[in-house]
Amino acid sequence: KVVAVIMVGGPTKGTRFRPLSFNTPKPLIPLAGQPMIHHPISACKKISNLAQIFLIGFYEEREFALYVSSISNELKIPVRYLKEDKPHGSAGALYYFRDKIMEEKPSHVFLLNCDVCCSFPLQGILDAHQRYGGIGTMLVIKVSAEAASQFGELIADPDTKELLHYTEKPETFVSDLINCGVYVFTSDIFNAIEEVYSQIRDTSSNYQSATRSVPTDFVRLDQDILSPLAGKKQLYTFENKDFWEQIKTPGKSLKCSALYLSQFRQTSPHILAPGDGTNRKPNIIGDVYIHPSVKLHPTAKIGPNVSISANVRVGPGVRLINCIILDDVEIKDNAVVINSIIGWKSSIGRWSRVQASGDYNERLGITILGEAVTVEDEVAVIGSIVLQNKTLNVSVQDDIIL
Ligand code: GDD
Repeated sequence: KVVAVIMVGGPTKGTRFRPLSFNTPKPLIPLAGQPMIHHPISACKKISNLAQIFLIGFYEEREFALYVSSISNELKIPVRYLKEDKPHGSAGALYYFRDKIMEEKPSHVFLLNCDVCCSFPLQGILDAHQRYGGIGTMLVIKVSAEAASQFGELIADPDTKELLHYTEKPETFVSDLINCGVYVFTSDIFNAIEEVYSQIRDTSSNYQSATRSVPTDFVRLDQDILSPLAGKKQLYTFENKDFWEQIKTPGKSLKCSALYLSQFRQTSPHILAPGDGTNRKPNIIGDVYIHPSVKLHPTAKIGPNVSISANVRVGPGVRLINCIILDDVEIKDNAVVINSIIGWKSSIGRWSRVQASGDYNERLGITILGEAVTVEDEVAVIGSIVLQNKTLNVSVQDDIIL
């Protein structure tokens, strides 16, 4: 038997996701029409002998209750939300719930960050781990040297794949091989975390003051566990050859939505809207997700990379490109939305334009409308972030509307 744990974090961690994270926990924000966390959960479902999935976080329980019961029914696997009273760090949180996690005596525990986008090759990681031995195996990927510094950088033995050296977000370049935030461990991981706690408690050692800048009950998987265990034949690496992205900003979620849509194209094309005119009208281009409850006018042209959630109404002549439209939005006649995320219950007026400024590929700002924003007729919203409940009756560019 195996179990999976997904770290969902909590409200204080979601600030970069504003204004979308004001009323919705970041892990529940839809990518490719499904909550962010749905993608790792459905990857877990494919592991053989999976007994349970735990979500660990410090969001209020009621924020996850509905999702947890519906996904448990859908997948026929128990999914439980375990709430920490406060953040304990990624390893501390795992340890805090060790009795619940180990209740069914699983041979292995998968640990996944909720804010990464990849194909989660979990069975491959487990199979590799069983060949390697040791406490755990982590998913790693090569990125550009410039990008690497935002992640845990590591060195692995090219032959044995052993983790030889690990540094979390180093200031000077160590390696272009980075930690993807996806692991499998044996139950020995709990002993390793226990060991760190006892070093912290041992007042005769100056462990706490010398190496740590966090509270005494806070244990980080990367700095406190991976770094010291590197080079001790305990940890191994499994290289990811498929797509991988971290999802820390709404702009990234647009990119990740595209990645998951194209994954659906390969694995479950029936989820996508039938494309390129097969359905006569409406006009669908490339990978597009449209919830069955959406009212789409046949003269609207949609795609590529568009996800439209429940109860959205799309009027005649509307053009949507590279965007996420959340539940209950209305997009009126001849409006255009490009490189944007439109929050729940928002309304976009006739002949209005909502788009990124400049060239999206040069990472210039995308436009994000928070919940219940009204863009009146013939208004342009370019490269801007608009907080919830605002009404825009004049055009704005490169602005933040508070
Ligand atoms: N439950 C809970 N409690 N979850 C937490 C806590 C906590 O106290 N702290 C962090 N998390 C969750 C976050 O929501 C996230 O899903 C995951 O744990 C890791 O978050 P951080 O510890 O803040 O690290 P990071 O995301 O900046 O970087 C980590 O992931 C990268 C890959 O995305 C590191 O492991 C990097 O090395 C790695 O490259």
